[in-house]
Amino acid sequence: MNYENILIEKENKIAIITINRPKSLNALNKPTIEELHSALKALELEKEVRVIILTGSGEKAFVAGADIKEFSDFNMSEGSQLAAKGQELLFDFIQNLNKPVIAAINGFALGGGLELAMASHFRIASTNAKMGLPEVTLGLIPGYGGTQRLPQLIGKGRAMEMIMTAEMITADKALTYGLVNHVVDQTELLDFTKNIANKIANNSATAIGRAIKSINANYRDGINGFHEEIKNFGECFETEDFTEGTTAFIEKRKAEFKGT
Ligand code: CAA
Repeated sequence: MNYENILIEKENKIAIITINRPKSLNALNKPTIEELHSALKALELEKEVRVIILTGSGEKAFVAGADIKEFSDFNMSEGSQLAAKGQELLFDFIQNLNKPVIAAINGFALGGGLELAMASHFRIASTNAKMGLPEVTLGLIPGYGGTQRLPQLIGKGRAMEMIMTAEMITADKALTYGLVNHVVDQTELLDFTKNIANKIANNSATAIGRAIKSINANYRDGINGFHEEIKNFGECFETEDFTEGTTAFIEKRKAEFKGT
């Protein structure tokens, strides 16, 4: 499939999606959200792809937010629709993907951009990255899950302050907040992220999918995370990866996981 707003590269077992609207600082308009959805959906089905990295094109921005020019004349119903559709197609979709998605934050991650990074399974930032949820400066609140995921990641008090002040935080502060896992120089960001992705790619994909489901269960209403873990743990015993992993351990060799 041909995409206009994103680029996709594959390297070993890793797929790298680059949001490519540099003139708008990679702002997320409707077509970009739809393209990201269909690319992620296709990559989820590709057995050889084990890890997905999301990043932004250029040196300035990961994603500077939802595309403000697209919704500046919206009414209440259109606004609610924008948030609901976006959450369903992209943000919840990423969180629940059974393949790891890592956000490589290469510059500004603001509003919907930080929300995209937060919906990813974890985040790595370059030293120049700036993160924030500036929606209240537009008379809005975050609409792509930011009011929920930011407090989950950094705690309620810090999230309240970031959302109310609309101020951006530096990569180093994001690291101390636990919003990102690592901070590296921009020139090393992709290689550093790929290195972590490669480690993940060599492990059991079936087990990783179940680990994602179990961890996410803690953030879903009406689901007991411990019960979900027991169910997913049990299911692992039915996989070829389990047989391979335990046999390789006993035979003192490296496991070759097929992801089945
Ligand atoms: N939407 C649309 N266009 C955007 C954009 C956005 N979120 N962010 C930047 N752009 C565009 C600018 O309009 C500008 O385009 P033109 O050259 O055609 O004027 C171009 O990208 C470059 O931006 P700037 O000239 O503003 O660059 P700068 O270096 O002076 O500032 C910035 C960089 C601080 C990131 C600034 O662009 C900015 O504040 N952007 C908006 C950030 C924002 O408010 N994001 C939240 C959006 S709302 C949201 O995301 C809602 C939600 O949760 C669903």
